[in-house]
Amino acid sequence: MNIAQIMEKMMVFSEGSIRDINHFIRVWTYARTIGCLEGLDPDTQFILEAAAITHDIACPLCRRKYGSTEARFQEAEGEVMVKVFLKDAGLSFEQIDRIAFLVGHHHTLTAVDGPDFQILVEADYITNASEKNYEAARNREFMARHMKTSAGKRIAAAVLPLEDGKAGSLEGKAGSSGKEGGAFGSIEIRRISITDLDTDAVVNAANDGLRPGGGVCGAIFRAAGYEKLDEACKRIGHCATGSAVITPGFDMKAKYIIHAVGPVWKGGKNGEPGLLYGAYYRSLELAEENGCASIGFPLISAGIYSYPLKGAWTQAIKACSDYLEQHGGSRLKIIFAVLDDENIKVGREMLNELKAAKQGR
Ligand SMILES: [Fe+2]
Repeated sequence: MNIAQIMEKMMVFSEGSIRDINHFIRVWTYARTIGCLEGLDPDTQFILEAAAITHDIACPLCRRKYGSTEARFQEAEGEVMVKVFLKDAGLSFEQIDRIAFLVGHHHTLTAVDGPDFQILVEADYITNASEKNYEAARNREFMARHMKTSAGKRIAAAVLPLEDGKAGSLEGKAGSSGKEGGAFGSIEIRRISITDLDTDAVVNAANDGLRPGGGVCGAIFRAAGYEKLDEACKRIGHCATGSAVITPGFDMKAKYIIHAVGPVWKGGKNGEPGLLYGAYYRSLELAEENGCASIGFPLISAGIYSYPLKGAWTQAIKACSDYLEQHGGSRLKIIFAVLDDENIKVGREMLNELKAAKQGR
């Protein structure tokens, strides 16, 4: 198989997930360009391009199996998957072995052992940073520590923001800095049942065993299709308090359900605020990692987990506003779906206070 044939096979393999396809096309384009500019020999260039096309081959499986595309899952599954994927491609054992090594280690920056690996890391970073609008400081640090090729550095400097206060090119061209008031435009509190939201992802207030429960959790299980969601949750099995995992949305309008595990309130001295903040923050990361433009939250931990209402809103709003600021602006639309009057009143007051404080700073 040549590169075009591997590309076609990977496009078919991706089953219409345009986000995944666009991602590997970008990584391949940057990798190919850097490799050519660096004068790689044809064999190494071929390995690089094949690895760039297939590097995230395990992402869809990891989302289904683990609810996460964390590096350790992706690398372990990817190394095996790409060997099967390329088994009939007419490549030599050495070629398949090297491509599988690159796919299986592309997040392990300490393992970089050749120009194909180095350029794959650079191309993947440039793509991720532009897709997720990484901040200038993060780009500068990565460039200083991990960018080694001069072509990679030149392209990164041309594509990514490197000066503080400047957002990525997409934001820049849209005329939004992604700072100050901009970040708050995307947080909204609505009087609506979470199961009626038409956001790309909805968040379930889950328990750490991911078992069906009452309240928001029960409503989401019923709307998604109890058995299908229960089976997906059982496959993942567990989620630490303060974190979140993702499953498909099944029969819900939302494409994904993110299961966020907030803490049970035990007086506030057991790390509850940090855990609650973490559950929101991880949910937002998962939404964006999975291409969501909008996400709907319930007020986590405020029900039978007894978290005091004001404190619950404080962590909810803080996590969301921090996330938006740290990720370059307001691309993610965040909606809190709340039905209780007092709850809505407290939340809106706190959101307005925070907006005012931000605008005045
Ligand atoms: Fe990637």
